[in-house]
Amino acid sequence: MKSKKDFLKDAIKHIDIKQYNVVPLVDAMEHMAFSARSLNRAARIYDMMLKDRECGIILTLAGSIFSAGLKKVVCDLVMNNMVDAIVSTGAIMVDQDFFEALGFKHYIGTPFSDDNLLRDLHIDRIYDTYIDEDELRICDETCAKIADSLEPRPYSSREFIWEMGKYLEDHDGPKVDDSVIFACYKKNIPIFVPAFSDCSAGFGFIMHQTQNPTRHVSIDSAKDFLELTRIKLKSKETGIFMIGGGVPKNFTQDIVVAADILEEDSPMHKYAIQVTVADERDGALSGSTLKEASSWGKVETTYEQMVYGEATVVLPLIAGYAYHKGSWKERKPKEFQRIFSIEGAVA
Ligand SMILES: NC(=O)c1ccc[n+]([C@@H]2O[C@H](COP(=O)([O-])OP(=O)(O)OC[C@H]3O[C@@H](n4cnc5c(N)ncnc54)[C@H](O)[C@@H]3O)[C@@H](O)[C@H]2O)c1
Repeated sequence: MKSKKDFLKDAIKHIDIKQYNVVPLVDAMEHMAFSARSLNRAARIYDMMLKDRECGIILTLAGSIFSAGLKKVVCDLVMNNMVDAIVSTGAIMVDQDFFEALGFKHYIGTPFSDDNLLRDLHIDRIYDTYIDEDELRICDETCAKIADSLEPRPYSSREFIWEMGKYLEDHDGPKVDDSVIFACYKKNIPIFVPAFSDCSAGFGFIMHQTQNPTRHVSIDSAKDFLELTRIKLKSKETGIFMIGGGVPKNFTQDIVVAADILEEDSPMHKYAIQVTVADERDGALSGSTLKEASSWGKVETTYEQMVYGEATVVLPLIAGYAYHKGSWKERKPKEFQRIFSIEGAVA
């Protein structure tokens, strides 16, 4: 019978957009049709965001994209001032980014596996990718350890993720070259995870709160919303680059309405692009179009583009195009983390 080692052999390698100049390829797509043309327009809109000095760029992430090899793409966007804030799921930031920063890997697998055997071997499967469940437990426990070390009070996810970056720094840095949590910690880029307990961190929190029933760390998602809205108020002009849908998409679109409720004059998101495999016919959020979002007062319709495609193919092309165009070279870091004091209190 196959052992765990037989399954966990070939690690997923993260694609490096710096190695491939895709500008001529993406430029050629302008004269095609269907997905190629919409991808080209989305790439050009992202480049416009980078050229617009007043524009704060918010990247939203859903799905299982870091375990699939897209982590380095986002790291490169962070390191080259191509993004100013990130709104993500816990799966991506904790189970995938922080997990790899602790020295663990994702492995090439197959969807045609014997899942009962995988279960017996403590191997989790994400479509064609394998994960060592025992290593994931260490990630849960590390989140519990971080919570144990903090002053008991409600934290925004942004504050807690900053503490995760600090944990990595205090433990000789990430065990791999690229960690988005660590890169954002160093570059003062805030990361928000509005449904923070819905991932490995949630397992850590139930350990922490069970062991500390009366005084413990908790996550305040309203505080997250207020903090992200403060970024909108500070930046005024904003562009959103959305990979997948889910909570990060809605949370980020809604800050325009939140700013309006706070009675401040804040414009809609000026630029918006979304890469998704969902379509609009079910009326659900993930496939709802950006034109639809404009009816809610969230997104302007001049510079918006939906791209219907899978992120592992589309993101390297859009990000690679913008990277090799080089508009980011003149862009100053916005360091939105500085809006908040180091303890996370709103300044
Ligand atoms: N993804 C996981 O394996 C996983 C693991 C643990 C916990 N979770 C938790 O589940 C919750 C929901 O996660 P979610 O919002 O990512 O849900 P999701 O995975 O259903 O993604 C939301 C939508 O984004 C789009 N999408 C996803 N992946 C895409 C891709 N590769 N290319 C293009 N479009 C894509 C799809 O339209 C999808 O319906 C989160 O709280 C997360 O932390 C997820």
